[in-house]
Amino acid sequence: MNAATNWSPSVESPEKTAGFDVFKIRADFPILAVKVHGKPLVYLDNAATTQKPQAVIDALIHYYTSENANIHRGVHALSELATESFEQARVKIQRFLGAGDPGEIVFVRGATEAINLVAQTYGRIHAGSGDEIIISSLEHHSNIVPWQILCEQQGARLRVIPINDDGELLLEEFEKLLGPKTKFVAIAHVSNALGTINPVRKMIEMAHRRNVPVLVDGAQAAPHVLIDLQALDCDFYVFSGHKLYGPTGIGVLYGKRKLLEAMPPYQGGGDMISSVTFEKTLYNKLPYKFEAGTPDVSGAIALGAAIDYVSNIGLDRIAAHEDKLLAYATHALSSIPGLRLIGTAKAKAAVLSFVMENIHPHDIGTVLDQQGIAIRTGHHCAQPLMQRFGVEATARASFALYNTQEEVDALVAGIHKVQEVFA
Ligand SMILES: Cc1ncc(COP(=O)(O)O)c(C=O)c1O
Repeated sequence: MNAATNWSPSVESPEKTAGFDVFKIRADFPILAVKVHGKPLVYLDNAATTQKPQAVIDALIHYYTSENANIHRGVHALSELATESFEQARVKIQRFLGAGDPGEIVFVRGATEAINLVAQTYGRIHAGSGDEIIISSLEHHSNIVPWQILCEQQGARLRVIPINDDGELLLEEFEKLLGPKTKFVAIAHVSNALGTINPVRKMIEMAHRRNVPVLVDGAQAAPHVLIDLQALDCDFYVFSGHKLYGPTGIGVLYGKRKLLEAMPPYQGGGDMISSVTFEKTLYNKLPYKFEAGTPDVSGAIALGAAIDYVSNIGLDRIAAHEDKLLAYATHALSSIPGLRLIGTAKAKAAVLSFVMENIHPHDIGTVLDQQGIAIRTGHHCAQPLMQRFGVEATARASFALYNTQEEVDALVAGIHKVQEVFA
């Protein structure tokens, strides 16, 4: 069955993005060939984590079969090789983001750790009693809780930018919140639960007019949106490797050099020092001051391979393919009776959240799973956002560069099946 029977032919097929062959791309991802419950896997849980291309898997295997050694401290050949590959990965990330220099790229475990790092270093020295930190209504818990902890520690106050019913931030309310007490703004580039692309450039300008620094949580943007840190001019930018076709356990904190220089270290240990005596420790230069202990060397190198992979295809092409897929899926799901989309912003990326009359999202997910279709159900680590929409949970399909129109059709057919089961 072609589930998208109401499909308008005026919208171009997702498979037909110029210079982009989705079927060729799929062949790069070995896991896409697996069967789930005897059915071909339809993987639509990409906002949680993406699948890995062979090039990333190969980078991990190559590292452990030919280069494995601890970095920065060794004089032997393997250690030098591993250090070189690790630092090359840093340069790839710097170029990918358009950062000024590799010293501004700090390897961390992921977006969560990066935000905690900034809250507990920059935040601890700048936010005091009565000061305010602004976040938004559509943040992931990772961009809420670290700021709450900081506010509790410092006696500061968390302020929240509201959204409209489409899931768009209200900029006039943001303007009103920005005031003499504001010490910091932390906002998502793209919402994980709604897909809204926030006007971060404009918001950074608004905050900078009042000399307030801005952290952008790019966990959901890095795989879908071209990032140019020089144009954005944000003070901090964070993302996780595993959502960008890289491995788990590795992520990135970008910070402007002058801010990172002035911040105290986050953790103490090896590699973050230049000298230690029992009386006093001098800290290492950037970015090592923030990289205490042995880092995820293989993860960083494989993230570099993921960035090569994505850059060779072109994020603009990837975004164009995903935009068409999202338009196709939005149209198809909107025509299903009893289904309500949550998150209908004009600017969206790769995420479709929905609820269905009298059917719990977990039941939707379970019936879809039986058909080999992987989606996510729950609060998506955004409970305040769920409360704003008056729901406890949603079902969320999220797309990546390897998803196809046929997979959207399978999702729509699967949802019809859900309706049959619960009729
Ligand atoms: C918008 C957003 N921020 C932060 C995170 C946290 O990422 P991680 O768990 O990789 O640290 C996520 C993960 O889903 C996210 O979607």
